[in-house]
Amino acid sequence: MLKLMQSDTSKKWSLEEILSSCNWSDQAVAVGAGLGLSNAGVVDIEESVKTTIRLSAQGISATENGLLEARLWSWISNTDAADMASLQQSFERHEAGPGVGLLKRIGVQLVGGKFVADDKIQVEEIISQRASFLTSLPDVVENLDPEMVEHFRGRKGFIENQESTTRSWKINQSGISVDPNLLVEKEMVTEITPELLQSDNWRDAEFRSFDVTLESATPRTGRSHPMQALIERIRNIFLEMGFSELVEDYVQTAGWNMDALFIPQDHPAREMQDTFYLDNPEKMELPDDVMSLWSGIHKHGGDTGSVGWGGDFSKETSQKGLLRTHTTVNTIQYLADNPSKPCRMFTVDRVFRKEAIDRTHLPEFHQIEGIIMEEGANLQMLVTTLKTFYHKMGYPEVRVRPAYFPYTEPSLEIEVKWRGKWLELGGAGIFRPEVTEPLGISSPVLAWGMGLERLAMLVLGLDDIRQLYISDLEWLRNQPII
Ligand code: PHE
Repeated sequence: MLKLMQSDTSKKWSLEEILSSCNWSDQAVAVGAGLGLSNAGVVDIEESVKTTIRLSAQGISATENGLLEARLWSWISNTDAADMASLQQSFERHEAGPGVGLLKRIGVQLVGGKFVADDKIQVEEIISQRASFLTSLPDVVENLDPEMVEHFRGRKGFIENQESTTRSWKINQSGISVDPNLLVEKEMVTEITPELLQSDNWRDAEFRSFDVTLESATPRTGRSHPMQALIERIRNIFLEMGFSELVEDYVQTAGWNMDALFIPQDHPAREMQDTFYLDNPEKMELPDDVMSLWSGIHKHGGDTGSVGWGGDFSKETSQKGLLRTHTTVNTIQYLADNPSKPCRMFTVDRVFRKEAIDRTHLPEFHQIEGIIMEEGANLQMLVTTLKTFYHKMGYPEVRVRPAYFPYTEPSLEIEVKWRGKWLELGGAGIFRPEVTEPLGISSPVLAWGMGLERLAMLVLGLDDIRQLYISDLEWLRNQPII
């Protein structure tokens, strides 16, 4: 292109001229080459923007079926005693109302219930001017009657602008002084395609360099919600560590959610203000023998050597329906069904607690739960497993502290260091005999349950948990890839 321009240094080249002289067919090639030359400072670009007005949907339909005012006027002219009532019978509501308004503005009045025009000739002339304006489109704005343009811009969906840019290129002083012998045509690769990689041609190809510091539009494609992406990552970590996933219902009985876990029936966390009990199902039948086992354990420790909690045990209470308050309800049922097969299970799922919504609490959230059951499993193994998980998540500093849960002994709290502070992320422990023995489990069971939203807050650097569930597109688009 520069070679061509050196042949006539005073000429302003149009796109068509460049295409035909360079023997190119693709405008993008010419525009790209011109931009390259201008970036190199050897060519000047002149740009002019032209506005064309063309019909849009309403305008097209008016040229096909007639303008509304034209159709109404012709009906009035051909109808004896044209009045409002008969007009409303002949035209739809959405046409009659606006149509009468349009006619009024060009001099058609309702007098004594009848439509009359002072100057019929003028009414018809305005209508035909409007119609012929529409049929004259598309045209550049300079050629059009500004009053008509304004009129139709005020009517929704009749006309629209189409902008087009015309460019011309002219060589400048530095371009003239470029040595023509240096101007040789070379093919460069701008895109690495699978075909290119397979063909072996890439070995000798010259690659076009890109300036990655230039401003560019951010591609906005669909992507996973950050929570979903995080769940996916956690899943992969546990799968990689040899765990299997457990997915179960969140409608459960108080029996499995609490009694099976040796949570006393008068425990404060069971109260209505902490747990969502269900009206439907209000009650879910449980096998009597299972409830009797729990009852024995709770009242006097059953055969486990424990003394239990004492007091009464209500099978009614066990059969209450609720929204699970922790995912431990599902791991314990898995163990009940598989008491002797060693296992490593995990679940990342939704739980519910009656919490007032604030910066760090939601009534509906997720837990990352897991168990390891095998001969010889011990506290050391539990701590190492949790540390490994957080390490893989990118948090190398993890510590555990003593804690209390009715169903584990010993019990731990897991804390992760974030921005210099220790944050509590979950609980863990080894299931007590009161939990495992009635189910016929003889190997130790390591268990943990951790908050997913808390972890998400760390990963995404949030100080308000609610941000995760506000559908704020701008925020969602700007989240890092997890
Ligand atoms: N279920 C406990 C909670 O919801 C966490 C936990 C799970 C603790 C397993 C110990 C063992 O906080």
